[in-house]
Amino acid sequence: MATRRRTLLKVIVLGDSGVGKTSLMNQYVHNKFSLQYKATIGADFVTKELQIGDKLVTLQVVVVVVIWDTAGQERFQSLGAAFYRGADCCALVYDLNVSKSFDSLDNWHEEFLKQANPSDPKTFPFIVLGNKVDIDGGRSRVVSEKKAADWCASNGNIPYFETSAKEDYNVDEAFLTIAKTALANE
Ligand code: GTP
Ligand code: MG
Repeated sequence: MATRRRTLLKVIVLGDSGVGKTSLMNQYVHNKFSLQYKATIGADFVTKELQIGDKLVTLQVVVVVVIWDTAGQERFQSLGAAFYRGADCCALVYDLNVSKSFDSLDNWHEEFLKQANPSDPKTFPFIVLGNKVDIDGGRSRVVSEKKAADWCASNGNIPYFETSAKEDYNVDEAFLTIAKTALANE
């Protein structure tokens, strides 16, 4: 019998505190959501197996927490490079209802490239998720789809998804794109 090749894909999830990184991961992997907020200390990580074409893939999702001080400087260097090493894709998450979390995308993008130090930073696959699209039926959103799409376009045509971890909206789609992009980069 032919042995099936198993591929391990590592995805790093970054974004400001409270944007819903852990919730997206839990919705995707465990189909669970809680409105209770428990900040991640250090890093969360889970794995999920999925079939992409004829490949059995183990997607390893790592949510990393880095704390920025008010000047935008990193306070915790310690989590650094070890967590990012070997990443096949990086998901940047912001909250559509919190403008600052969108402004932070530049920082996260830079932070990732600095820490992971991929061989070709220009083609390394990112994906952007605008989360909490459910809140107030979208009436409290402060970042327009165009503004987000423009940021993604000007940073190397990054794929963009609007998601709700709460209502399980676009979560599978986003992670499938993450897995496929990571696989293509592997
Ligand atoms: P840190 O671990 O501190 O970095 O935060 P995080 O990015 O992991 O955020 P987390 O997933 O813990 O979510 C923060 C809060 O937002 C929690 O109270 C969640 O229930 C809530 N939340 C997350 N995603 C959504 C969403 O899509 N819609 C709504 N309405 N609330 C959400
Ligand atoms: Mg978290």
